[in-house]
Amino acid sequence: MRQAASGQGRTAVSVEAKIADIFGVDRKVVEKYCNEYQGLDVYIERKLEGKNLLALTPDKRRAMYAIVKLLKPHTAVETGVGPGSSTTVILSATGSGFLHSIDFGVKYGFEQETYPVGFVIPVALKKNWQLHTGDSAKLLKPLLEKLGKIDMFYHDSTHEEKHVEFEISNAWKHMDRGIILIDNYLWTPAPRKLSEKVGSALVELSRKAGGFCAIPKRLGD
Ligand SMILES: C[S@@+](CC[C@H](N)C(=O)[O-])C[C@H]1O[C@@H](n2cnc3c(N)ncnc32)[C@H](O)[C@@H]1O
Repeated sequence: MRQAASGQGRTAVSVEAKIADIFGVDRKVVEKYCNEYQGLDVYIERKLEGKNLLALTPDKRRAMYAIVKLLKPHTAVETGVGPGSSTTVILSATGSGFLHSIDFGVKYGFEQETYPVGFVIPVALKKNWQLHTGDSAKLLKPLLEKLGKIDMFYHDSTHEEKHVEFEISNAWKHMDRGIILIDNYLWTPAPRKLSEKVGSALVELSRKAGGFCAIPKRLGD
Protein backbone atom coordinates (compact mmCIF):
# COMPACT_ATOMS: atom_id res chain seq x y z
CA MET A 1 0.00 0.00 0.00
CA ARG A 2 1.40 3.38 -0.97
CA GLN A 3 1.80 6.08 1.69
CA ALA A 4 -1.06 8.20 0.25
CA ALA A 5 -3.57 5.68 1.59
CA SER A 6 -2.83 6.42 5.23
CA GLY A 7 -4.55 9.78 4.90
CA GLN A 8 -1.78 11.37 6.93
CA GLY A 9 -0.23 13.29 4.04
CA ARG A 10 -0.75 17.02 3.57
CA THR A 11 -2.80 16.79 0.37
CA ALA A 12 -6.41 15.63 0.59
CA VAL A 13 -6.82 12.17 -0.89
CA SER A 14 -10.28 11.07 -2.03
CA VAL A 15 -11.91 8.04 -0.41
CA GLU A 16 -11.97 6.36 -3.82
CA ALA A 17 -8.20 6.85 -4.15
CA LYS A 18 -7.61 5.47 -0.65
CA ILE A 19 -9.66 2.35 -1.37
CA ALA A 20 -7.92 1.90 -4.74
CA ASP A 21 -4.59 2.14 -2.93
CA ILE A 22 -5.58 -0.47 -0.31
CA PHE A 23 -6.39 -3.00 -3.04
CA GLY A 24 -3.79 -1.91 -5.60
CA VAL A 25 -6.44 -1.26 -8.28
CA ASP A 26 -7.24 1.65 -10.57
CA ARG A 27 -9.42 4.36 -8.98
CA LYS A 28 -11.94 3.98 -11.83
CA VAL A 29 -12.80 0.49 -10.57
CA VAL A 30 -13.64 1.92 -7.14
CA GLU A 31 -15.64 4.75 -8.73
CA LYS A 32 -17.63 2.17 -10.70
CA TYR A 33 -18.61 0.37 -7.49
CA CYS A 34 -19.41 3.66 -5.72
CA ASN A 35 -21.75 4.58 -8.58
CA GLU A 36 -23.28 1.10 -8.59
CA TYR A 37 -24.05 1.56 -4.86
CA GLN A 38 -26.40 4.51 -5.41
CA GLY A 39 -29.41 2.32 -6.27
CA LEU A 40 -29.03 0.41 -3.00
CA ASP A 41 -28.79 3.65 -1.07
CA VAL A 42 -32.20 4.71 -2.38
CA TYR A 43 -33.64 1.44 -1.00
CA ILE A 44 -31.93 1.84 2.42
CA GLU A 45 -33.01 5.48 2.80
CA ARG A 46 -36.57 4.54 1.90
CA LYS A 47 -36.61 1.82 4.58
CA LEU A 48 -35.11 4.17 7.21
CA GLU A 49 -37.83 6.80 6.44
CA GLY A 50 -35.55 9.61 7.65
CA LYS A 51 -35.55 8.27 11.23
CA ASN A 52 -32.43 8.63 13.38
CA LEU A 53 -31.65 4.97 14.01
CA LEU A 54 -27.87 5.36 14.16
CA ALA A 55 -27.47 3.64 10.81
CA LEU A 56 -24.13 3.92 9.05
CA THR A 57 -24.09 7.22 7.13
CA PRO A 58 -24.44 7.11 3.30
CA ASP A 59 -20.78 8.03 2.61
CA LYS A 60 -19.63 5.19 4.89
CA ARG A 61 -22.08 2.74 3.31
CA ARG A 62 -20.78 3.64 -0.16
CA ALA A 63 -17.15 3.06 0.89
CA MET A 64 -18.12 -0.21 2.57
CA TYR A 65 -19.91 -1.42 -0.58
CA ALA A 66 -16.85 -0.74 -2.78
CA ILE A 67 -14.56 -2.45 -0.26
CA VAL A 68 -16.70 -5.58 -0.04
CA LYS A 69 -16.97 -5.72 -3.85
CA LEU A 70 -13.18 -5.62 -4.14
CA LEU A 71 -12.48 -7.95 -1.22
CA LYS A 72 -15.09 -10.62 -2.11
CA PRO A 73 -14.97 -12.03 1.43
CA HIS A 74 -15.69 -15.69 1.89
CA THR A 75 -16.52 -15.20 5.58
CA ALA A 76 -17.36 -11.85 7.15
CA VAL A 77 -18.31 -11.01 10.74
CA GLU A 78 -20.01 -7.85 12.00
CA THR A 79 -21.01 -6.70 15.46
CA GLY A 80 -23.92 -4.25 15.75
CA VAL A 81 -26.78 -4.80 13.31
CA GLY A 82 -29.25 -2.14 14.55
CA PRO A 83 -31.60 -1.32 11.67
CA GLY A 84 -29.43 -3.43 9.36
CA SER A 85 -28.11 -0.91 6.86
CA SER A 86 -24.49 -2.13 7.09
CA THR A 87 -25.72 -5.74 6.99
CA THR A 88 -27.67 -4.94 3.82
CA VAL A 89 -24.60 -3.34 2.22
CA ILE A 90 -22.33 -6.27 3.05
CA LEU A 91 -24.83 -8.90 1.90
CA SER A 92 -25.57 -6.99 -1.33
CA ALA A 93 -21.90 -6.72 -2.25
CA THR A 94 -20.57 -10.04 -1.05
CA GLY A 95 -21.93 -12.38 -3.75
CA SER A 96 -21.55 -15.96 -2.50
CA GLY A 97 -19.81 -14.98 0.74
CA PHE A 98 -21.41 -15.52 4.15
CA LEU A 99 -21.97 -12.93 6.87
CA HIS A 100 -22.25 -13.67 10.59
CA SER A 101 -23.68 -10.78 12.64
CA ILE A 102 -23.83 -10.40 16.41
CA ASP A 103 -26.39 -8.15 18.08
CA PHE A 104 -28.29 -8.05 21.38
CA GLY A 105 -31.11 -8.67 18.95
CA VAL A 106 -34.32 -7.87 20.74
CA LYS A 107 -35.72 -4.57 19.50
CA TYR A 108 -34.00 -1.52 18.14
CA GLY A 109 -34.87 2.14 18.45
CA PHE A 110 -35.59 4.86 20.97
CA GLU A 111 -38.36 5.08 23.54
CA GLN A 112 -41.82 4.30 22.11
CA GLU A 113 -40.71 3.58 18.56
CA THR A 114 -38.92 0.25 18.29
CA TYR A 115 -38.16 -1.90 15.29
CA PRO A 116 -37.01 -5.48 14.83
CA VAL A 117 -33.22 -5.68 14.61
CA GLY A 118 -32.24 -5.83 10.94
CA PHE A 119 -35.61 -4.64 9.61
CA VAL A 120 -33.89 -2.99 6.61
CA ILE A 121 -32.38 -6.28 5.34
CA PRO A 122 -34.26 -7.69 2.31
CA VAL A 123 -35.47 -11.27 2.84
CA ALA A 124 -33.75 -12.41 -0.37
CA LEU A 125 -30.33 -11.55 1.08
CA LYS A 126 -30.82 -13.50 4.31
CA LYS A 127 -29.83 -16.86 2.80
CA ASN A 128 -26.19 -15.84 3.22
CA TRP A 129 -26.63 -14.49 6.74
CA GLN A 130 -26.79 -15.71 10.30
CA LEU A 131 -27.73 -13.49 13.24
CA HIS A 132 -26.21 -14.51 16.58
CA THR A 133 -28.16 -12.87 19.39
CA GLY A 134 -26.38 -11.83 22.57
CA ASP A 135 -23.45 -9.79 23.82
CA SER A 136 -20.45 -9.81 21.48
CA ALA A 137 -18.26 -9.81 24.61
CA LYS A 138 -19.50 -13.37 25.11
CA LEU A 139 -20.27 -14.54 21.56
CA LEU A 140 -17.44 -13.22 19.42
CA LYS A 141 -14.54 -15.42 20.58
CA PRO A 142 -16.42 -18.74 20.32
CA LEU A 143 -17.79 -17.69 16.90
CA LEU A 144 -14.32 -16.83 15.60
CA GLU A 145 -12.94 -20.11 16.95
CA LYS A 146 -15.72 -22.00 15.18
CA LEU A 147 -15.15 -20.15 11.90
CA GLY A 148 -11.34 -20.48 12.03
CA LYS A 149 -10.41 -17.86 9.45
CA ILE A 150 -12.35 -14.78 8.40
CA ASP A 151 -11.68 -12.22 5.63
CA MET A 152 -13.58 -9.24 6.99
CA PHE A 153 -14.60 -7.87 10.36
CA TYR A 154 -16.83 -4.86 10.95
CA HIS A 155 -17.20 -3.30 14.40
CA ASP A 156 -20.30 -1.23 15.24
CA SER A 157 -21.34 -2.48 18.69
CA THR A 158 -20.19 -1.03 22.04
CA HIS A 159 -17.69 1.75 21.33
CA GLU A 160 -15.78 1.60 24.61
CA GLU A 161 -12.02 1.23 24.38
CA LYS A 162 -11.75 -2.17 26.09
CA HIS A 163 -14.58 -3.62 24.03
CA VAL A 164 -13.32 -2.24 20.70
CA GLU A 165 -9.82 -3.52 21.52
CA PHE A 166 -11.25 -6.95 22.43
CA GLU A 167 -13.22 -7.24 19.19
CA ILE A 168 -10.67 -5.99 16.69
CA SER A 169 -7.65 -7.75 18.19
CA ASN A 170 -9.47 -11.09 18.22
CA ALA A 171 -10.74 -10.56 14.67
CA TRP A 172 -7.20 -9.71 13.53
CA LYS A 173 -5.88 -13.01 14.94
CA HIS A 174 -8.41 -14.92 12.83
CA MET A 175 -7.45 -13.20 9.59
CA ASP A 176 -4.63 -14.19 7.21
CA ARG A 177 -5.61 -11.62 4.63
CA GLY A 178 -8.55 -9.24 4.81
CA ILE A 179 -9.83 -6.04 6.32
CA ILE A 180 -11.19 -4.65 9.57
CA LEU A 181 -13.70 -1.80 9.32
CA ILE A 182 -14.51 0.29 12.38
CA ASP A 183 -17.35 2.76 12.79
CA ASN A 184 -16.95 5.63 15.30
CA TYR A 185 -13.25 4.87 15.36
CA LEU A 186 -12.41 8.38 16.64
CA TRP A 187 -14.18 7.65 19.94
CA THR A 188 -11.43 5.44 21.38
CA PRO A 189 -7.69 4.98 20.87
CA ALA A 190 -8.17 1.22 20.32
CA PRO A 191 -8.09 1.29 16.48
CA ARG A 192 -4.89 3.42 16.36
CA LYS A 193 -3.29 1.20 18.99
CA LEU A 194 -4.01 -1.96 16.99
CA SER A 195 -2.74 -0.34 13.79
CA GLU A 196 0.52 0.61 15.53
CA LYS A 197 0.89 -2.76 17.24
CA VAL A 198 0.48 -4.82 14.06
CA GLY A 199 2.25 -2.32 11.78
CA SER A 200 -0.66 -2.01 9.35
CA ALA A 201 -1.93 1.41 8.26
CA LEU A 202 -5.17 2.82 9.62
CA VAL A 203 -6.97 4.31 6.62
CA GLU A 204 -9.53 6.98 7.44
CA LEU A 205 -12.58 6.68 5.17
CA SER A 206 -14.82 9.27 6.86
CA ARG A 207 -14.67 11.77 9.71
CA LYS A 208 -18.46 12.06 9.91
CA ALA A 209 -20.39 10.85 12.97
CA GLY A 210 -17.38 9.52 14.90
CA GLY A 211 -15.45 8.54 11.79
CA PHE A 212 -15.03 5.32 9.86
CA CYS A 213 -11.75 3.56 9.15
CA ALA A 214 -10.16 0.47 7.70
CA ILE A 215 -7.18 -1.54 8.87
CA PRO A 216 -6.22 -3.80 5.96
CA LYS A 217 -4.19 -6.97 6.40
CA ARG A 218 -1.91 -8.06 3.55
CA LEU A 219 -4.14 -6.67 0.76
CA GLY A 220 -2.62 -5.47 -2.49
CA ASP A 221 0.45 -7.72 -1.94
C1 LIG B 1 -25.50 1.79 15.85
S1 LIG B 1 -26.32 0.27 15.83
C2 LIG B 1 -25.62 -0.52 14.43
C3 LIG B 1 -25.98 0.14 13.14
C4 LIG B 1 -25.72 -0.73 11.92
N1 LIG B 1 -24.32 -1.07 11.79
C5 LIG B 1 -26.22 -0.06 10.67
O1 LIG B 1 -25.41 0.43 9.86
O2 LIG B 1 -27.44 -0.02 10.46
C6 LIG B 1 -25.57 -0.56 17.17
C7 LIG B 1 -26.15 -1.96 17.47
O3 LIG B 1 -25.18 -2.64 18.25
C8 LIG B 1 -25.82 -3.44 19.21
N2 LIG B 1 -24.85 -3.65 20.29
C9 LIG B 1 -24.25 -2.70 21.06
N3 LIG B 1 -23.36 -3.27 21.90
C10 LIG B 1 -23.42 -4.62 21.66
C11 LIG B 1 -22.76 -5.74 22.21
N4 LIG B 1 -21.85 -5.60 23.18
N5 LIG B 1 -23.06 -6.96 21.74
C12 LIG B 1 -24.00 -7.12 20.77
N6 LIG B 1 -24.65 -6.09 20.19
C13 LIG B 1 -24.37 -4.85 20.63
C14 LIG B 1 -27.06 -2.66 19.60
O4 LIG B 1 -28.06 -3.55 20.07
C15 LIG B 1 -27.45 -1.99 18.26
O5 LIG B 1 -28.40 -2.78 17.60
